[in-house]
Amino acid sequence: MPNEIGQETLERLIRDYRPYTKQGAVAAYIPELAYANPHALGIAAAGADGSILKAGDADTSFTLQSISKIITLMVALNDCGPERVFSKVGMEPSVDPFNSIVKLETLDHKKPLNPMINAGAIVIASLLSGGGSVDARLQHLCDTVSRITGRSSIRFNEKVYESERRTGDRNRALAYFMKSTGIIDSDVDVEKTLDLYFKACSLEVDCVDLAKIGLFFALWGKCVESQTDGTCSTKEIVTPEIAQIVTTIMITSGMYNHSGEFFLKVGLPAKSGVSGGIVAFSPNRYGFGLFGPAIDAAGNSVAGVKMLEELSRSHRLHLVSPH
Ligand code: DON
Repeated sequence: MPNEIGQETLERLIRDYRPYTKQGAVAAYIPELAYANPHALGIAAAGADGSILKAGDADTSFTLQSISKIITLMVALNDCGPERVFSKVGMEPSVDPFNSIVKLETLDHKKPLNPMINAGAIVIASLLSGGGSVDARLQHLCDTVSRITGRSSIRFNEKVYESERRTGDRNRALAYFMKSTGIIDSDVDVEKTLDLYFKACSLEVDCVDLAKIGLFFALWGKCVESQTDGTCSTKEIVTPEIAQIVTTIMITSGMYNHSGEFFLKVGLPAKSGVSGGIVAFSPNRYGFGLFGPAIDAAGNSVAGVKMLEELSRSHRLHLVSPH
């Protein structure tokens, strides 16, 4: 059995890997994200026994950005079923950047390659955006995140949303292109779909929230709830089959066009966002939440990835292991 993760391990990771923040840069294509402190670094680990450990800037809030893609995928699978979801989006990893448009025209089926790239997540948002206002749909996503994290409410960062809405022409292009090819249904209001996508990206969390989201997938769709007598119980939010699909897509596509290298080195399901967040987990054991806004060319936190490599090595967490 791998070693337990202790407070000292997390403190050491922050100490040893903070210098790596210098090797990345904060995302600036969404102007509001450029205000983040490039040297910030935080980590939290949530154990299946309900324990939470955290170190560094683990209490700093940041927006989910692409980490929202695992939530929207999960909600779409739950609400519409896998058949409908995968009639609109593929299951294959992408070698192109997360906001690429090229394959939407060259692939015969015209579907975005997977639900973790922007085009795929926008299609997922189109499945969720019909029937009811965007804010009601957003509330549905927030309620899901609230249940998983145990937070009474999930804040939405108006400034980041406005900033992305104002500058989101690449996403607008992806969405209108997909409507022209019939991947987004003809009766869908593209602006409403984009509004839901931008708002989901602008939901605020911290490392502990991400660790709890990771633990929820580690427990196959169950969240841990603390009882008044100090004990913990678990509650199913989605079926294990849905959690399994999201987990598999995280392994193959969660770290974009670096997913292969990440899985080789870290060996855990994970999802990153351009704000510098990463959620990762060790099935049945731990959820991890990391934050380091200095990102690499693929959009992944440089120091966050390094910390996960070390944690996986030191605690033998790699899922494909001879030990
Ligand atoms: O649509 C976008 O470009 C951002 N809201 C999200 C992209 C993102 O997080 C990619 N991440 N690594």
